[in-house]
This record gives sequence, C-alpha cells and structure tokens, in this order.
Amino acid sequence: MIIKAAVIEEEGQDFRIVDMELDAPKAGETLVKVAACGVCHTDDVARNQKVPVPLPAVFGHEGCGVIEALGEGVTDFKVGDRVGFSYAWCGECEACRRGRPYGCEVNKDINFGGVQLDGTKRLRYKGREVSSFFGQSAFATYAVVHRNNLIHAPEDVPLELIGPVGCGIQTGAGAIFNYLRPGADESILVTGCGAVGLSCVMAAKIAGLSRIIACDIVDSRLELALELGATDTVNAARTRDVPAAVRAMTGGLGAHYAVDCTGLGACVRQSLVSVRSVGVCVVLGNTQDLTIHVESELVGPTKTLAGLVEGWSIPQVFIPKLFSYYRQGKFSFDRLITFYDFEDINKAFEDTKSGKVIKAVLKMN
Ligand SMILES: NC(=O)c1ccc[n+]([C@@H]2O[C@H](COP(=O)([O-])OP(=O)(O)OC[C@H]3O[C@@H](n4cnc5c(N)ncnc54)[C@H](O)[C@@H]3O)[C@@H](O)[C@H]2O)c1
Ligand SMILES: [Zn+2]
Ligand SMILES: [Zn+2]
Repeated sequence: MIIKAAVIEEEGQDFRIVDMELDAPKAGETLVKVAACGVCHTDDVARNQKVPVPLPAVFGHEGCGVIEALGEGVTDFKVGDRVGFSYAWCGECEACRRGRPYGCEVNKDINFGGVQLDGTKRLRYKGREVSSFFGQSAFATYAVVHRNNLIHAPEDVPLELIGPVGCGIQTGAGAIFNYLRPGADESILVTGCGAVGLSCVMAAKIAGLSRIIACDIVDSRLELALELGATDTVNAARTRDVPAAVRAMTGGLGAHYAVDCTGLGACVRQSLVSVRSVGVCVVLGNTQDLTIHVESELVGPTKTLAGLVEGWSIPQVFIPKLFSYYRQGKFSFDRLITFYDFEDINKAFEDTKSGKVIKAVLKMN
C-alpha cells in the first residue's frame, strides 16, 4: 500500500513527508493505522547518524494507533484494537527467555539495524528499500509492527497520549521501579529534565525518596520538575560545582543515586561524582565517549555505574502499572506532552531541541 512517511535520506537533513510503499504484515506482524508518534531525542541521534541506522530510513519509535490487519499467527491482538508501540525484542534469545527483553541479543539489529525481526525491510521509496526503526517507523500514516512491540491501550487513556510511554517515559520511570528500587529515606540526583528525566522524577516521588534533586540548564524545566515531585533543583548553567551543591543538600555525603538523562559525558561524570560511596549512577542518555579512572572513581569508593536500555522495562508488564499510577493522579505524564500536526515534524524537532517543549507528539490526521 502507499502511505505517507517522513523520510531521511542523508545524515542530519530535515524530514520530508513523501509517498512510500509499505508491504503487508508478515508472520507475527500487524498493520497499524498510526494515530500519533512521540518525538524522542533518540530519533535525532539516529537522524544525525551518531547511531548509524542505514539510510534511507523512517524514524519514529513512540507510535500508537489502531490495528487494521494481522499477519499469520497473531492471536493476542485483533483488527480494531487500540495499541501503543514499544521497542523490538526477539523472544527467543537467552536474555528474552530469561525475561529480560531489554537485553535482547539482537536488540541492535531490530531496533537500530533497519530491519524487522525476520531480517527484511517493509518500506520502499524511489525503488530502494528503506530502513525501519525500532521495528515500527511510526513517523508515518501506517506502520507494520511485530506483535512483540505492541501493548494493549487502555480504553480510559486517550490513544494519542500512549506512544511516548513506550520509550522515553518507561525509560525514566523504569530506572526507579525496575532497577534502583530505592528506599524511602534515600536521595537521588536526576540530571536532564526532558521527558526521560521528568518521568524519573515522578517515579522517584511515587517511590517516596526523601530528597529528589533535579538538575538542568533550563529554568522552566526545573520549575516543572518541582511541580512533578522534585524537592530541590540545581541549574547547572549557574552552578560552578554541581557535586558540591548536591553534597550540601545531602548531609555532606552526596546522593544515594544519580540518574543521567542528558546524553553528555561530562554530565555522566558529574552524576558519578555526585553519588556517595556505595552509591549507584545510572546512565539513560545516549552518551558517546567518557574516560573514567576506574580505581579512584569506581572501585575505591565502591560505586556502581550502570547503563540501562528502556529502564529495564518489559513494556507489556510495566506500562499497565504506569497507567495505574496515571489514573491515581500520581504519574501525570500527559503534562509533558505538546501536540503537533504530522506536517510540522521539523518544527516539533526544533522546539524540542530549543527546550520550548518537552515531549512533542505528532498527530497523523
Ligand atoms: N536508555 C534508553 O533506552 C533511552 C530511551 C529513551 C531516550 N534515551 C536517551 O535519553 C536522553 C534523554 O532523552 P529526552 O527525550 O528526555 O531528551 P531531552 O533532550 O528532552 O532532555 C535532555 C535534557 O538535558 C538537559 N541538559 C542539557 N545539557 C545539560 C547540562 N549540562 N546539565 C544539565 N542538564 C542538561 C536539557 O536542557 C534537557 O532538558 C537522550 O540522550 C535520549 O537519546 C535513552
Ligand atoms: Zn531476544
Ligand atoms: Zn526513544
């Protein structure tokens, strides 16, 4: 079928919405009419080829919509189901069989390698095959999505809100609930108050942490962090020594935990320095190089530095929990979202980059 999709043919170029061919779903896959798709920093990272997804490609990995057709063997979804999309996992490797799909051994191939789970592509443009992203490519009017990527959307949550929960929002919240599992008397530093960091802040509040320190360089984001549960803020643009500021807020010791959601090596180091001994520093941001002195920065102070994919979330298990918190008014992820028309995709990316909006969501019609 012919669909409209936002193509990227060359590194770093603007999105162009074009007509493209989409094949029918194969075994285990579904055809979904996309309702909306969130804009995540990772789309930008891939567009700029810091993660080298083969081009041409269609990005967009926080989609949602309504199923229009089923490939062979899909029994747990039916035509007409409202669904959210999350990351791709194979279900057959050792990590998947151990219940850790976020560590799937073919994660790189099926999320960033441009192919669907069976190793082939579904999209074609100007006679060339086009890469998929996260097994969905949801910056488009239709997407072929494997059933492993899908979650059932609850009836009482507006469908257009659901996409970002499948990536940025579960990543931030998952770092707290799935990995750190902190105690109520403990403290945390969250650096980078985008959708990932603010989801982390909301989860930290639910977990009852006594001190939640939000750090960013944009005052409006820090103000929102305070509304969503942070107890303190640090504006890194105006603070010469962030770890010293964190120590001053935590009895001189540093935070028990730090979660870095910036994607910047210097911020990861700052987070690591800001945790006390036996503390844990989690990296969620798409960070490139960082050199650390293992003995003096890690082993000596007995600190843990951990990188997590998708906050160790099993989407089909974890996302329903986040919706429960949303219904209870404790996890207001809708406050992070600003809607744009699909045609305004480049503006949505610009406004995200400038800090004007936190989570842009493109509506497809
Ligand atoms: N691990 C995963 O599975 C996963 C999933 C989703 C997103 N990500 C990554 O997580 C990161 C955050 O995503 P996002 O969508 O929230 O991005 P975002 O760009 O909206 O948020 C980044 C925030 O960092 C702040 N920042 C920039 N420089 C800073 C500094 N020096 N000190 C403090 N704050 C600073 C920005 O102002 C912004 O608020 C990205 O790198 C993204 O690629 C990773
Ligand atoms: Zn797997
Ligand atoms: Zn993402």
